[in-house]
Amino acid sequence: MSNNQTPVGPELGDYIRSVSLREPDLFRRLREETAALPSANWQVSPEQGQFLGLLVRLMGARQALEIGVFTGLSSLHIAGALPPDGRLIACDRDPETTAVAQRYWREAGLADRIDLRIAPAMDTLDGLLRGGAAGKFDFAFVDADKENNEAYYERVLKLLRPGGLATIDNVLRNGWVADDSRQDADTCAVRAFNAKLHADARIWLSLTPLGDGLTLACKR
Ligand SMILES: C[S@@+](CC[C@H](N)C(=O)[O-])C[C@H]1O[C@@H](n2cnc3c(N)ncnc32)[C@H](O)[C@@H]1O
Repeated sequence: MSNNQTPVGPELGDYIRSVSLREPDLFRRLREETAALPSANWQVSPEQGQFLGLLVRLMGARQALEIGVFTGLSSLHIAGALPPDGRLIACDRDPETTAVAQRYWREAGLADRIDLRIAPAMDTLDGLLRGGAAGKFDFAFVDADKENNEAYYERVLKLLRPGGLATIDNVLRNGWVADDSRQDADTCAVRAFNAKLHADARIWLSLTPLGDGLTLACKR
C-alpha cells in the first residue's frame, strides 16, 4: 500500500514543536524534574499532552478517567482542559511518583479537579462499575501496564457514554509491533490489542502515529 506518512526525524520534530507547542512553564518544569528519574521516558511527549488537552476541550468533556499517572504530566493536560466543575479520576498504584504529580496539580490549581486512586487500576475500574458509573465518563486515557490494555479497554468502554472517547498510548511500541522478531509479552499484547480494536464494531477508530502511537476509539 502507498505510504504518504511523512517520517518525523529529530529536525522535523524540532520544527513541529517550534510552530505548535504551547507549553506552560509549570508543565515544562515537571518534564525537567521527571527527566532525572530512571523511567523518564514513560511520560507523554509535550505535544501528545497538548493533543490530549485539545481532544478533551473539543468534546466538552466533564468526566474523565486516566489509567497510568506517573508524575502527572498527562493528568495536567487532561484536567487543565476540563471545566472547573469537571473531574478526572486518576488511577495509579505508585504513591511515590504520584506524590510528584500531586505537588504539580496543587501548584496548577487543579488538585480539586483530580481524584487520585492509589490501587491496582483494575480494582479501581471494577469499583467504579460496581458503584454504577457505567456510561458516566466522556473521556479516558489508558497508559499503564500494556499487557492489561485489553482488560482496561473493556472496562473503559463500559464506563464511557456513547460518543465518549478512549485514547490508548504506546500502540506502536517503538515500531516493534511491525517487527516479527520482537516477541516480548508487552509487544505481543499490544499487537493483539491493535488487531482486536481493528475488528471491534463497537467503536469508531483511528490510530495516530503521534508520540509512540495513540489510538482513538470513540464509543458508538
Ligand atoms: C507510562 S506510565 C504513565 C505516564 C503518564 N501518563 C505520564 O504522561 O506521565 C505508567 C504508569 O502506570 C502505573 N501502573 C502500571 N501498572 C499499574 C497497575 N496495574 N495499576 C495501576 N497503575 C499501574 C505505573 O505506576 C506508572 O506510573
